[in-house]
Amino acid sequence: MSDILGLEGKVAIVTGAGGGIGRGIALEMAKAGAKVVINDIGVSLGGEGGSASPAEETKAMIEAGGGQAAISTDSVSDWESAQKIVQCALDTFGQVDVVVNNAGILRDTIFHKMDPADWRAVVDVHLNGSFYVSRAAAEPFRQQMSGAFVHMTSTSGLIGNFGQANYSAAKLGIVGLSKSIALDMERFGVRSNCIAPFAWSRMTGSIQAKTPEEAERIERLKQMTPETNAPLAVFLASDAAKEVTGQIFAARLNELFLFNQTRPIRSVHKAEGWTPEAIAERALPAFKASLTPLGRSGDVFSWDPV
Ligand code: NAI
Repeated sequence: MSDILGLEGKVAIVTGAGGGIGRGIALEMAKAGAKVVINDIGVSLGGEGGSASPAEETKAMIEAGGGQAAISTDSVSDWESAQKIVQCALDTFGQVDVVVNNAGILRDTIFHKMDPADWRAVVDVHLNGSFYVSRAAAEPFRQQMSGAFVHMTSTSGLIGNFGQANYSAAKLGIVGLSKSIALDMERFGVRSNCIAPFAWSRMTGSIQAKTPEEAERIERLKQMTPETNAPLAVFLASDAAKEVTGQIFAARLNELFLFNQTRPIRSVHKAEGWTPEAIAERALPAFKASLTPLGRSGDVFSWDPV
């Protein structure tokens, strides 16, 4: 129990806490003294099926460590049921102080074959789910003049990734959501930040290496257990991060990243205005050297911060 965190007795909702990164965060929250609402519907990676067992297992783990936890098996991907997740915190523990939007599914397909149903399912859980649960907590946060949101984004959204148009769009949408919440709720003492986690979990466990370079990246990813992301999430939820809002962080094993904010990198001006032809002839040569190469999520393994 650490004084600087100020999480003792606070109430944290962690969505998708029945396994993987969410379970790691739920356990770390409890270790910091928070009471935890474990939200999970126990679905497959693609979002099918459903079981209370994963959430129950996390609850048992928290209670075995002397912590307090409650379970919500309501889906994040529906407006009405998202209200129940926040209500569970209020009914069980009388308050809510932290929301970690972590629940997730994957339906990877190359873009020209992407089915609208696979688009909707992924956007519903990640982007709409993060909105629904955050929006449900916004009123209690506003009334108590405090609260912290931590949302899981991904380098698939920040950089790009093959076969993940639905997931990448949702994950970059979450960044926009988080930044807007940070601005809109600053006046109520509420903060909102994103984490791009890295973990060898169910979500990444099926990645197949097609090149020796990818095989090397997978070996590195295997060292990144879901728990390695938890301290950053708990820090961002805590009073120790009271000056930190609207930011994007990442955890890469024992290394933490702070991402930059998108800024213009080149500018060209033409007093009489632009035509498409003038852009081709004059702007393009100026931009060419600075065009961003296509990137993939895995690039981050070979990155050094600028
Ligand atoms: P995971 O698949 O192990 O866990 C996700 C959990 O979310 C599951 O327990 C599942 O039952 C739950 N869930 C799914 N749909 C739900 C819904 N509608 N309502 C409530 N719960 C639901 O995944 P993992 O790896 O732990 O990922 C956690 C988060 O981190 C996700 O948002 C993921 O996109 C993100 N992430 C993970 C990365 C990694 O390297 N594993 C990389 C980048 C982002």
